[in-house]
Amino acid sequence: MKVEVNGIKIDCRDEGDGLPVIFIHAFPLNQTMWDDQVAGLRGTCRTITFDLRGFGRSGFANTPQSIEQMASDLRGLMQALGIDRALLVGLSMGGYISLSFYRNYPDCVRALVLADTRASADTQEARDRRIKAAEKAEREGSGAIADDMVPMLLGRSTLSARPDLISRTREMIEANSPAGIAAAQRAMAARRDSTDLLAAMNLPVLIIVGSEDSLTPVAEAETMHRAIRASRLQVIEGAGHLSNLERPREFDAALREFVEPLDPRG
Ligand code: MLT
Repeated sequence: MKVEVNGIKIDCRDEGDGLPVIFIHAFPLNQTMWDDQVAGLRGTCRTITFDLRGFGRSGFANTPQSIEQMASDLRGLMQALGIDRALLVGLSMGGYISLSFYRNYPDCVRALVLADTRASADTQEARDRRIKAAEKAEREGSGAIADDMVPMLLGRSTLSARPDLISRTREMIEANSPAGIAAAQRAMAARRDSTDLLAAMNLPVLIIVGSEDSLTPVAEAETMHRAIRASRLQVIEGAGHLSNLERPREFDAALREFVEPLDPRG
């Protein structure tokens, strides 16, 4: 289904009833990375996935982009779907957007799942790397970005044993436009630090991380866990940065255990 938000068309899927659980995908992928979770939570809650602007089947405005803008798109999507409050599940870039959303619309967040992400902003070195990667996407196309990123996104166990997941991840990246990829890299480079939000968070938070995540390692998850009073930390053994794709059974079990006790009207 397509929904018009902030002047662009956002492609989303909305199924089931009960507590709305909205999934926010990683860079540079699309909403299909959540297919296993939608299936795993069927009958438990209402699940919503969507393609962020510039990714998948959503539209793209060729203007500078920001993480706040993507959080505003999410707010617009919720309004269009008649959702006042939702549980947000954000993985990596999806986590940056979830934290930005929480800063700007705290009353719209019922609970948070922060997977394979970090609250801190980029170092200058990481920013410079992103600007170079954005230029590379524009110069060499999405295939070159897939070459660089697949070995970093997936953990060593997956890389050595799951050619199907390597292909699936590659296909998601290659299906995105170089302009969409570049705009999101620049948005992430400019994102603000969200660390100041953590100590005052008074909502249920589940932090998930793959034991083989080299982009946002377990130590990052532990730092957030220490800072957020009401948080739970789940390390998924044998998964890399894309813990939900690499170990869906374990990821879904953690999610179900977190979602089920929450009052759908809360
Ligand atoms: C992601 O998975 O969304 C990216 O690795 C995030 C990032 O580059 O910081």
